Amino acid sequence: MDGKELILTGQSIHRGNLILVNGQHPIQEEMRSDCVPVNERETQILLHIRAAACLAGLLAEIGGTGKIVSVSGYRTREEQEEIYRDSMKENGEAFTRQYVALPDRSEHQTGLAIDLGLKKSVIDFIRPSFPRIGICGTFRKKAARYGFIERYPKGKEAVTGIAEEPWHFRYVGYPHSVIMAERGLCLEEYETFLERYPYGGEHLILEMPEEGCVEIFYAGARRSVIIPKDAVAEISGDNRSGRIVTLWRKNV
Ligand code: DAL
Ligand code: ZN
Repeated sequence: MDGKELILTGQSIHRGNLILVNGQHPIQEEMRSDCVPVNERETQILLHIRAAACLAGLLAEIGGTGKIVSVSGYRTREEQEEIYRDSMKENGEAFTRQYVALPDRSEHQTGLAIDLGLKKSVIDFIRPSFPRIGICGTFRKKAARYGFIERYPKGKEAVTGIAEEPWHFRYVGYPHSVIMAERGLCLEEYETFLERYPYGGEHLILEMPEEGCVEIFYAGARRSVIIPKDAVAEISGDNRSGRIVTLWRKNV
């Protein structure tokens, strides 16, 4: 194989589309500088620049702009703390533990998560209504194509540690979003699944007629890997112990 070296820095374990932030894996790096206003109408809500662009593309495709509204995107640690504290006071502990992550355990602090609601006169901040029918249903069907997953699905509460949240979408990037949706894996399960494809073993290969060939492997804590010369690489940490490498190549 005609290869080139891809350097993987230590820092990249805690950065990237695929980082896992949950009760067991707190956020390690501040992401504010990667965030932009989600669109020109909702300038007070920030989102990671790539996620904001993909969300805008998805809403435009389905004619959802203005019908689906952004309720909460990037949050600082202080904001998450305040939401948690206020919810404990107003809703009690059982509710809060189900629907609000502890400070530094919320993926809203990454800028990769967005709570969406169907536009209404009153929208609940913690549990906005985002039905499975109508424009919100159409959004769900197309979400994975644009890199988004429904992060807290029904049936995965024991794995995610959070109750079903039909309004909370997480940007993980395409084609990871599609693989997760097709296999019914939540992010915790997907990270474990990818460890079955280590650098030195069999890689996960997707041959896609239009987009080309995508190759995914788990590089762990290695400092570098050799990849094909003609491949374009994306690296994401898992925020646990390693990085995931996604290689894009043209079909030949
Ligand atoms: N509602 C999600 C779990 C959060 O607070 O991050
Ligand atoms: Zn959320």
